[in-house]
Amino acid sequence: MDPILFSRPFHSPAEIQNVAAVLATDHVHGDGPFTASASARLKKMTGAAHALLTTSGTHALEMAVRLVGVKPGDEVILPSFTFSSGATAIVAAGGTPVFVDMELATGNIATDQIEVAITERTRAIEVMHYGGVPVDMSAVLSLAAVHDLRVIEDNAHGLAVPTPHGVLGTIGDVGIQSFHDTKNVHCGEGGAVLFGSDNLTEPAEIMREKGTNRSTFLRGQVDKYTWVDWGSSYLPSELNAAVLDAQLAAFDSIQSARFGVWNAYREELGDWAVANGVALMDPPGGVHAAHVFWLLLPTPERRDEVLANMRAEGVQATFHYVPLHSSPAGQAYGRTSGSMVNTDHFASRQLRLPLWAGMSEADIARVIATLKKS
Ligand SMILES: Cc1ncc(COP(=O)(O)O)c(C=O)c1O
Repeated sequence: MDPILFSRPFHSPAEIQNVAAVLATDHVHGDGPFTASASARLKKMTGAAHALLTTSGTHALEMAVRLVGVKPGDEVILPSFTFSSGATAIVAAGGTPVFVDMELATGNIATDQIEVAITERTRAIEVMHYGGVPVDMSAVLSLAAVHDLRVIEDNAHGLAVPTPHGVLGTIGDVGIQSFHDTKNVHCGEGGAVLFGSDNLTEPAEIMREKGTNRSTFLRGQVDKYTWVDWGSSYLPSELNAAVLDAQLAAFDSIQSARFGVWNAYREELGDWAVANGVALMDPPGGVHAAHVFWLLLPTPERRDEVLANMRAEGVQATFHYVPLHSSPAGQAYGRTSGSMVNTDHFASRQLRLPLWAGMSEADIARVIATLKKS
């Protein structure tokens, strides 16, 4: 029997047409019509004041950290349970990542552990909405206001998830998306920075265009462009934007297919989970992005055993992040604040099930049956 892969990228027929259209023109570099169209779609879906495509979510994080003014010696607070790019972007700006514990219920940063991690060197809080389940942004925004901190949202998983504070990625000072091909919407490798308000837009445009004011020049606002600040080449080519534009156009159907898989897991595993001491992902208010479906096994040994048994049956379930506070680079570059009891518990017991838009009912049934007998 064919294996059931953990993740498969979505494909839309429009991608090929869009890419062919780009190759038939003389504008294959960045910031052409497909970049404009994809950025406009992102703004419409999220309500962002501004959206700039980038070459990856990692590069978007590098931009975000610098845009909020992180300088050598500054500290940025983030969860230990996140992707390495969240920390390496801080280190790239000369800052120190400060790791705090997580909530078991959501997989998100434990907001009640943030305040004790704040020092006079703290510049920003970088949250990550795990699986598109919203972080408690009321708590984060009020801490940021009291301590005069900036807020970065790593929203790699949660494109267009609405909350009472606004759509994820537009609530803090800067939000980022990833369009890596493991994400719900992708262009191979890609990302975006989102802004809820317009005050960082011009510095962001400069940073993304090698530190030049080329964007204002292209809009006819200055008569020549020059090097004005630190920057890099963070803009994707039109080929990536052409794929992304087609995927964003298909967003509703992608999400409906992914929610179909997620809901089937949730409904069909409920009784089994209770009987076996397993905690299923249970997002507060049912709000999430159908990006991951996770469960916590009763012990780390049982998690490893279930993973091995499922893989032996050709079902590629997996774990997720190795906590950054325990990683070699996290220990070399970062600082850990407080206990990591929840992070260690979650990371060692977590298992994620395959979840992608093209899964058939037979695939879903096989994943469920394999899990139950593992
Ligand atoms: C939470 C999170 N942030 C950032 C990234 C980095 O995104 P990219 O792979 O587009 O650089 C990832 C990648 O998987 C991620 O899961």
